Amino acid sequence: MSDIQEATNQLLDVNLHDNQRSVPVTESSIRSESKNLHVTIGATVPTGFEQTAAEEVREKLRSPCKISKDRGKIYFDIPVESLAQVHCLRSVDNLFVVVQEFPDYQFKNTKEEVLKDFEDLAGKLPWSDPLKVWKINTSFKKKKTKRKKINQNSSKGKIDNGQGDKLDERDVKEFTNNDLDSHILDYYENPAIKEEVSTLVGDDLASCKDEIDEGSKEETELQTLKFRVTCNRAGEKHCFTSNEAARDFGGAVQDYFKWKADMTNFDVEVLLNIHDNEIIVGIALTEESLHRRNITHFGPTTLRSTLAYGMLRLCAPQPTDIIIDPMCGTGAIPIEGAMEWADCYHIAGDNNPLAVKRAANNISSLLTKSQMKDGKPSWGLPIDAVQWDICNLPLRTGSVDIIVTDMPFGKRMGSKKRNWNLYPACLREMSRVCRPGTGRAVLLTQDKKCFTKALSGMGHLWRKVHTVWVNIGGLHAAVYLLKRTPQAFVHPVEQDGERGTPW
Ligand SMILES: C[S@@+](CC[C@H](N)C(=O)[O-])C[C@H]1O[C@@H](n2cnc3c(N)ncnc32)[C@H](O)[C@@H]1O
Repeated sequence: MSDIQEATNQLLDVNLHDNQRSVPVTESSIRSESKNLHVTIGATVPTGFEQTAAEEVREKLRSPCKISKDRGKIYFDIPVESLAQVHCLRSVDNLFVVVQEFPDYQFKNTKEEVLKDFEDLAGKLPWSDPLKVWKINTSFKKKKTKRKKINQNSSKGKIDNGQGDKLDERDVKEFTNNDLDSHILDYYENPAIKEEVSTLVGDDLASCKDEIDEGSKEETELQTLKFRVTCNRAGEKHCFTSNEAARDFGGAVQDYFKWKADMTNFDVEVLLNIHDNEIIVGIALTEESLHRRNITHFGPTTLRSTLAYGMLRLCAPQPTDIIIDPMCGTGAIPIEGAMEWADCYHIAGDNNPLAVKRAANNISSLLTKSQMKDGKPSWGLPIDAVQWDICNLPLRTGSVDIIVTDMPFGKRMGSKKRNWNLYPACLREMSRVCRPGTGRAVLLTQDKKCFTKALSGMGHLWRKVHTVWVNIGGLHAAVYLLKRTPQAFVHPVEQDGERGTPW
């Protein structure tokens, strides 16, 4: 039995001693009711990879899975005993338990009427089972980290971060701190769907005071839950803002449960997801996205592990496959590969020595972590990091089964001009090392024009099977799944008859 599964079983025995309204509080009733509890879980996933995530859910949880109209979300039903396995899914970023779904919500005509309906809604929702799940879930959540107050809504005082995203001036100061990498990550990785995100703003002064009173507050915390409401809204036809919806719905939730609103230091996060005329109310089960799992040494364009998983899964790795990421950066893709497909051999390569060092450090941190967990020396991971140039790989022709890589977009990394030389050269070298007939490649790029042109000259070596459109930090990018054709690679020099047969 896994640690997490064991924790679930133990938690099914917990006593809910919070003063939640309409939640039964006796130990025996929770135990018996929770055991037969079925709930709907919602998950955010990298946009474009909804199908891949749904397949993972069907395969690992044996649950039917629905892909939402709202991009980047999936829904599936589980018995509460499976909650631990849900946290082990590799393609999900954030999880929430659904309180209620309104697939065709009838919004009234005026803002006042709509907001009044939101207020009334709070008292009518079936909170009881979702709150039990929330309680059971509290042990799976990653350790609480202090949230930085970044108002994604604010449009004033914004600057460009060089990757097409806008950053708030207030945050720029923080780029000089050690937080640089994690800030870059937040913005680069955020699948900035055109969507408003607002939270019910608690009393800022009160939350500052809370930080000072850290030691003395624990006792109170047990008695009064702190909460916030986050409204994610997408759609043109709403006569209210997400801020207004979060504020009025949040006020009603507060009155109903007698919880305390706290924007930054909350126990319960209630989600109000509005997409056109669909509304889903949920309770968050993750405080921090699950994609932050493998990487400790970040680079300027670190890919989220959930997206790396999706890209690898597109290639359906088989035991003993040799899988390379020839432009690995921090190693997010091959490290995810080594963790999930440990019966394959993974190589992480990059021409930048700093990147190779980061990848090696990330591998080493994971090993240390696993040794500390197991309390004994680890066998290691089936992965190596090397410095190489993608245009001239030190690998035998036809020796690689799978290539998965995230190419320089030419924005934060490299330049569009350089890509015109780099892309054809790397596609050619990849076709040399990749096994004819069975080899496959999954390549992520935002420079679609350059990629398409480079590929068009190599139709005899690569066949494009599928394209997944993704959103990387607000940039419209493509993930191409290519199959290596059976045609043998002929070196251009050999073609000209100038090179002898290689031994
Ligand atoms: C978009 S980044 C990859 C980011 C990576 N997926 C991560 O999670 O950190 C592209 C990488 O390609 C590398 N690169 C550029 N030209 C290269 C070349 N000729 N050979 C090998 N790597 C190269 C860059 O150093 C950079 O690390």
